[in-house]
Amino acid sequence: MIQTILLKKRPKGKPTLSDFEFLKEEKDLSVQEGEILLEATYISVDPYLRGRMSDAKSYIPPFEIGKPITSGVVAKVIASKNDKFKQGDYVSGMMDWKTQQVSKGEGLLKINKDLAPLSAYLGILGMTGLTAYCGLTQIGKPQAGETLVVSGAAGAVGSVVGQIGKILGLYVVGIAGTDEKVAMLTSDFGFDHAINYNTTEDMGTALKTACPDGIDIYFDNVGGPISDAVLFNINKFARMIICGAISVYNNTEIPKSISVQPFLVKNSALMQGFIVSNYSEKFPEAMKQLSTWLAEDKLTYTETTVEGFENTPQAFLDLFEGKNKGKMIVKV
Ligand SMILES: NC(=O)c1ccc[n+]([C@@H]2O[C@H](COP(=O)([O-])OP(=O)(O)OC[C@H]3O[C@@H](n4cnc5c(N)ncnc54)[C@H](OP(=O)(O)O)[C@@H]3O)[C@@H](O)[C@H]2O)c1
Repeated sequence: MIQTILLKKRPKGKPTLSDFEFLKEEKDLSVQEGEILLEATYISVDPYLRGRMSDAKSYIPPFEIGKPITSGVVAKVIASKNDKFKQGDYVSGMMDWKTQQVSKGEGLLKINKDLAPLSAYLGILGMTGLTAYCGLTQIGKPQAGETLVVSGAAGAVGSVVGQIGKILGLYVVGIAGTDEKVAMLTSDFGFDHAINYNTTEDMGTALKTACPDGIDIYFDNVGGPISDAVLFNINKFARMIICGAISVYNNTEIPKSISVQPFLVKNSALMQGFIVSNYSEKFPEAMKQLSTWLAEDKLTYTETTVEGFENTPQAFLDLFEGKNKGKMIVKV
């Protein structure tokens, strides 16, 4: 039996399970010349998928109603008529939310399960690790001794950003949503300081206290009021790396934010958004560096694993409730 998860309707505000549709088909898939048959092993759920569920103009086309959702997937090749892949290989790449699917292999990367656990290729050695590395190094241009603040710090991207910051000699402050996450940032990931935004009334003052030398680099995963508070504490020539804005992804109205311009002018500061694929030419270097730091135990990671293909939509919804620590992964 093949199971598929489709987009049933475009969410209004926060997505719900009723926005997804499950399809079960009793059929056997076969491969033609040049094709491979893939069985999903791990599925990545990511905040950016929320954007693709809406039909607003973006850097990537929206999902179509009645068609499968796609995201990063690690899959096993279970049949092959393609010279580049053999039965038993594992691959990662963008695939449909299906338990099995046929592919021509285009855009798929063969991965080595002896080098790292398979799920790591969706996280630290996948899109979120590359995002952390490329965003911080290419836009942040970190210099040892500077102060880095990371929001969404206990998530997939944020937890790697903070650790890279430490490796590069920065003073690192993380912002996350629970006491448990805040404790994890300093004890497991080596952050110098962490702030729970849900229990802190005045984030501006908390950041001022946590960053006595001001903020040189801000890696922003969340946007909204947390990021507004950062602006009051930036230094001259600060770099603000705008990676994501999960706090406003489900907004139905344009959020009211403070004007950034005076802060940027006063501080000759840079604010730059990016999409990880902007830096695709850096991926080989990034992968090599991340793998080396992992092997040297300079970098670590955590995952929240949800069991069962049918729980993929719920795992996605849980990202907006902060239920994950590190990368949210579905084990099929
Ligand atoms: N630009 C790119 O190419 C690129 C690539 C990958 C990811 N991203 C973006 O980077 C960000 C992080 O992605 P990720 O995959 O690493 O996800 P993640 O951080 O692992 O998971 C999402 C986290 O966001 C936090 N969150 C949820 N609602 C929030 C709110 N209202 N205010 C503040 N925090 C909230 C939650 O943590 P708490 O418990 O701490 O609230 C949750 O665990 C997202 O905005 C994503 O869209 C961008």
